[in-house]
Amino acid sequence: MSLPESPHHLLNLTPDELLGTTRAVRRRLDVTRPVPREVLLDCARLAQQAPTGRNRQRWDFVFVTDPDRRRALAELWRRGLDSPAAPNSHDGPSRHDFTPGTGWQAIADSLRHLVDILDQVPVLLVPCIRVGSRAELDDPATQAGTWGSVLPAVWSFMLAARSRGLGTVWTTPHLSYEREAATLLGLPYETTVQCALIPVAWTIGTRFKPARRVPVTEVVHWEHW
Ligand SMILES: Cc1cc2nc3c(=O)[nH]c(=O)nc-3n(C[C@H](O)[C@H](O)[C@H](O)COP(=O)(O)O)c2cc1C
Repeated sequence: MSLPESPHHLLNLTPDELLGTTRAVRRRLDVTRPVPREVLLDCARLAQQAPTGRNRQRWDFVFVTDPDRRRALAELWRRGLDSPAAPNSHDGPSRHDFTPGTGWQAIADSLRHLVDILDQVPVLLVPCIRVGSRAELDDPATQAGTWGSVLPAVWSFMLAARSRGLGTVWTTPHLSYEREAATLLGLPYETTVQCALIPVAWTIGTRFKPARRVPVTEVVHWEHW
């Protein structure tokens, strides 16, 4: 197994800096600089070190760089954003709405920018997981095993990207049109589930700050709820 030994793009962040400053990057995605395949492969190789149930490694990483395909995917994403069934539609208050500067309005402002530039972002990553059938997603216990066997890898990819100066943002609107996206990407819809759409680009500047979160004492429980 060969892991990238001395990747030339490393920012040399400490582990805590890396975990503490990997932000959802929208406004600071540099759409003018191409991202070399070898850097994406290094990040994917590290992502493959994530855990999976029974070590089944049923993940796939679809990188879309072709301008026409990016445009078509971005169009599905925009349609998904307008869809009432959008998985990320704002359906109620969250803890973040009570933390100034981190609530829905702040996200919506920067999301508007992403809407405008999405098809220009040099790389759109669609991580997927293979399933026996979509019925695997019917009950929460099985779902936990399925999502739990791909989402850690996606986050590892995003951390590896950040450590090299790349920005990413987890997005889901195109999933309202997942079948159409499957056709566009040539992947088998019945046995391959798309998890997200992650724009990837060099960041404009490399300094990012830890985000404000609710106090940890509000979310940590000792011994019982
Ligand atoms: C499951 C999930 C779905 C998300 N969907 C979107 C999205 O559709 N569009 C977007 O711009 N950001 C999306 N995000 C990014 C979040 O808005 C972001 O992580 C959150 O606001 C916290 O910001 P931070 O990561 O910079 O701390 C999503 C994040 C997750 C985990």
